[in-house]
Amino acid sequence: MSGSYENQKNKWKQNVDKTLQKFPERKEPFETSSGIPVHRLYEPEKPEDGYLEKLGFPGAYPYTRGIQPTMYRSRHWTMRQYAGFGSAKETNERFRYLLDQGQTGLSVAFDLPTQIGYDSDDPMAEGEVGKVGVAIDSLEDMEQLFAEIPLNKVSTSMTINAPASILLAMYIAVGEKQGVAKEKLTGTIQNDILKEYIARGTYIYPPESSMRIITDIFSYCQENLPKFNTISISGYHIREAGATAVQEVAFTLANGMAYVDAALAAGLEIDQFAPRLAFFFNAHNQFFEEAAKYRAARRMWAKIMKEKYNAQDPKSWKMRFHTQTGGSTLTAQQPDNNIVRVTVQALAAIMGGTQSLHTNSKDEALALPTEDSARIALRTQQILAHESGVTETVDPLAGSYFVESLTDEIEKKANEYIKRIDEFGGAVKAVEAGYMQREIHQTAYETQKDIEKGEDVIVGVNEFTIDEEVEPELLRVDEKLEKNQVEATQRIRENRDADAVTDSLKKLREAAVNNENLMPFIVEAVKVYATVGEIANVLRDEFGEYTAM
Ligand code: 3HC
Repeated sequence: MSGSYENQKNKWKQNVDKTLQKFPERKEPFETSSGIPVHRLYEPEKPEDGYLEKLGFPGAYPYTRGIQPTMYRSRHWTMRQYAGFGSAKETNERFRYLLDQGQTGLSVAFDLPTQIGYDSDDPMAEGEVGKVGVAIDSLEDMEQLFAEIPLNKVSTSMTINAPASILLAMYIAVGEKQGVAKEKLTGTIQNDILKEYIARGTYIYPPESSMRIITDIFSYCQENLPKFNTISISGYHIREAGATAVQEVAFTLANGMAYVDAALAAGLEIDQFAPRLAFFFNAHNQFFEEAAKYRAARRMWAKIMKEKYNAQDPKSWKMRFHTQTGGSTLTAQQPDNNIVRVTVQALAAIMGGTQSLHTNSKDEALALPTEDSARIALRTQQILAHESGVTETVDPLAGSYFVESLTDEIEKKANEYIKRIDEFGGAVKAVEAGYMQREIHQTAYETQKDIEKGEDVIVGVNEFTIDEEVEPELLRVDEKLEKNQVEATQRIRENRDADAVTDSLKKLREAAVNNENLMPFIVEAVKVYATVGEIANVLRDEFGEYTAM
């Protein structure tokens, strides 16, 4: 074997020894039911030229085989179920239920008014309060959301974009009230506004101001929340909007580069902020393409960070990502079939080396999940983790002729899209030109035509249907919720120190105008119970609102 191969292998072994100090493997030995030993890593008998460049070792550049030397033998991915509905109290109950059932991370779904920076008593919020996620207006709600959940013991993802700075500030304030210093807080804010312009729509401010808020968060977290992931660059929604796996990778990484460019333009050092960039991908049907997709994306990002941006810290090269199984693949028909779809999709994410995973519930094509369907979704992960054997050796698909060919093809095709986006001048310009949106709409149109022609079989929908569909028991959000939430927020306004709020919002406005980092001012505002809407409106006044053409 080539000297460099042996060198790299020895380095991997040293990495393994170092990792095992903190993350020992969970059993000894790993073996099959027939007593056949399952090794930590399987390698080619005779490594061909290109093995080190294309695959390498787990936990080493280009990370194709995973970002950790021992991967799931030491620690499974975080089981992190996206949850939130109704009031903070109801969602807190669901959080504590899921933690009791064995989930290992939290993931907050906010209602639309919160996501678009409106309070529950804003006319714009009417009819949406607590519907698709939890209603959060003030620090009071955030404290209830995390009641009896120690923030130094669990990491929390918050799916919040335009108002991410406000919810992060509230999380910091809740931590302080619990006696947890902000330096100890772990978690992620989605904070990815470009995919909102492309695919999801919960933006507020124009691109330039949005990028400024995002880089303010990068800078503030670098100094104050060193363990918090500052962005979750998302391909999930791009895929849900109709993109192919290749487009999902290409558009997500192009957005990632736009954030890196913005942070560098704001004067930040790449090896300071890049280790806390995170990603979020979909897990759709087509098992092998999905597993290859993650491996291609990881290798691409490693090369982009090392070669294009010249990042020196290996932590900057590692793509760490969360995966959610494909919501748009769930069917309203025969909902139990969705358990099988989610299992196959989750398996693809695991074979692709995900760091964190959400498995959809079987009833989510119909409503937010009931407690029972959320538990089955979590059990799906636990069965894959503990009973399937797929977590007992690192990157088991490596070396498969099909998977390696798909990995190479996805990388090649994704790079062709990235080249086109570069011709626009990068993702922000491409978004403003509507390029990615047009590409996605075209793909979605062609996919839908194939389904309607019956070329794409959707079991239970256009084939293998049943005559009598029985609607399952669904989650209902209490109709009184909106009224109760509005009254609670109005009580907060009556009881808080009005002068302190006015003063904090005035200082925020000055910071916005004077181009100061907004975060410290937002933290002070939430602590005196200024609301999401009040803070977001100050920035609306100063930055304006974006309306897509
Ligand atoms: N060996 C050694 N160390 C290991 C290890 C291993 N096998 N496994 C984990 N570790 C270490 C990690 O290095 C890390 O330590 P560090 O922070 O000091 O580096 C620690 O253990 C925690 O591991 P991870 O960081 O891998 O796992 P997390 O779960 O904490 O973070 C993440 C994962 C992807 C980086 C993070 O960004 C995350 O949790 N993202 C979740 C995003 C999310 O849930 N989004 C949901 C959105 S829902 C939505 O938008 C859809 C809706 O709109 C429909």
